[in-house]
Amino acid sequence: MSDYIVEMKHITKRFPGIVANDDVSLGIKKGEIFALLGENGAGKSTLMSILSGMYEPDEGEIYIRGEKVQIKSPNHAANLNIGMVHQHFKLVDDYTITENIILGMEPISKFAGLFPYVNIRNANRTIEELSKSFGLEVDPKKKIADLTVSMQQRVEILKVLYREAEILIFDEPTAVLTPQEIDFLLGIIEGLRNSGKTIILITHKLEEIKKVADRCAVLNKGKLVDVLDVKTTSINLMAQLMVGREVSFESEKAPAQFKEEVLKVEHLTVKNEDGFEVVQDVSFTIHGGEIFAIAGVADNGQVEIADAIAGLTKASGGKIFLNGKDITHDSIRNRTETGISYIPEDRQRYGLFLDFDLSTNLGAKQYYKEPFSNKGILKSLEFEQFGSRLIDKYDIRSGQGIHTQVRSMSGGNQQKAIIAREIELQSPLMIFVQPTRGVDIGAIENIHNMIIQQRDQGKAILLVSLELDEIMNVADTIGVIYNGRLQKVASSESLTTNEVGEYMMGARHE
Ligand SMILES: Nc1ncnc2c1ncn2[C@@H]1O[C@H](COP(=O)(O)OP(=O)(O)OP(=O)(O)O)[C@@H](O)[C@H]1O
Ligand SMILES: [Mg+2]
Repeated sequence: MSDYIVEMKHITKRFPGIVANDDVSLGIKKGEIFALLGENGAGKSTLMSILSGMYEPDEGEIYIRGEKVQIKSPNHAANLNIGMVHQHFKLVDDYTITENIILGMEPISKFAGLFPYVNIRNANRTIEELSKSFGLEVDPKKKIADLTVSMQQRVEILKVLYREAEILIFDEPTAVLTPQEIDFLLGIIEGLRNSGKTIILITHKLEEIKKVADRCAVLNKGKLVDVLDVKTTSINLMAQLMVGREVSFESEKAPAQFKEEVLKVEHLTVKNEDGFEVVQDVSFTIHGGEIFAIAGVADNGQVEIADAIAGLTKASGGKIFLNGKDITHDSIRNRTETGISYIPEDRQRYGLFLDFDLSTNLGAKQYYKEPFSNKGILKSLEFEQFGSRLIDKYDIRSGQGIHTQVRSMSGGNQQKAIIAREIELQSPLMIFVQPTRGVDIGAIENIHNMIIQQRDQGKAILLVSLELDEIMNVADTIGVIYNGRLQKVASSESLTTNEVGEYMMGARHE
């Protein structure tokens, strides 16, 4: 028997125009946390989709517990005790937690010893016990639609555990979580390892690898670069191996030169569907040449402020002025025209047309204007040239360039595409909500530099981020939000990370 519970040998997977995995060989030991690291598009999700039965490789062999297997489907993977927690969850909104977990494996009882039925009462009890034993408490009778993202993730994990997975794959599980939730999840993952399970963890966050992983494989453009022992490898070296150059974690920027006022928000109030005020009486201004960041713990109203300015949500009170013009009641299209670029939080839902190609997506907000159309006639050559230029400038990687269907692109490259499109609008106000979520560290550095560059060209920037490091790194002015209210607005130099943290927790007020 070999030392490895999973062995992938010479795995190659091609998609049109690209070799997503190029002769990759890996061995994973039973009971370890094995991390996968690599730039956006390096082939991490593809490799793990092969192991979990979603794709078949074009070449190569897989051995599980020393035995050669051909994993034909996710069900087949489950029979081999392999389960994957995907980055984009695959749950049914209208079903309860229990119904989602047992889907396809319903426990059958017989009424009067004759008539088969699904025994939901028993199932609820089983799920409750399972969830307690792994420290993942949930209320089995709740519907998915009523759960937060982190609770939905718990359900995905329970679903895999219910199928008796021994090898658990997590694809960027922390990208959608708040810092507190991340700590909790990493604790769960360590607990699973300690109970003998084998974990494969894909993440862009090197501190997470350092914290929990035993070994780490680095992929670059489909090829395996190295497998590292995490304890003896520094974060800087990991970063360098991954990006192929030195990465700076701090952005260089010249002092801000504030120009005239671009955005003015006065006494803004926003209500949610239940009529509850999630934004209360918020006022602030942003000048040209200024990066104004809203810091806060998730769900304290920051996204609603951004949505209200961009027109996705209605303001229930207060006013919003752009370059002196009242836009409080303008349509989204009007606001785009008056000068707002918007990078939303949920790129799959609001940012992209997933079934269209990349050049269409990159030009999507300008198609009706010169030079893209003339008297209502679209000029496809202009579109394509524009698309190609942005792909180069923003380093957007995919199989077929401008013709790539966006759905097939890797998560981080989808994000880069939105950023490119919105920055190119050259709007006086640019709103970035979580711009670096799911993006690799090399690309994060580039995005930060681009935001600073836009500031230096006189744009007003609103940045919403849950990452305090990101805010401290790029912001000129910080507004800290707690419970829908701005607790403090001050220049970033006048605040320490600790102080911002205290305002974020509501432990400090003006
Ligand atoms: N179904 C598909 N059809 C065509 N191309 C695909 C498909 N899935 C992935 N690709 C391509 O394969 C390459 C690797 O993608 P993959 O999703 O594995 O990257 P990744 O390392 O997970 O990146 P990220 O960190 O951005 O999630 C990308 O260039 C992507 O465009
Ligand atoms: Mg991926």
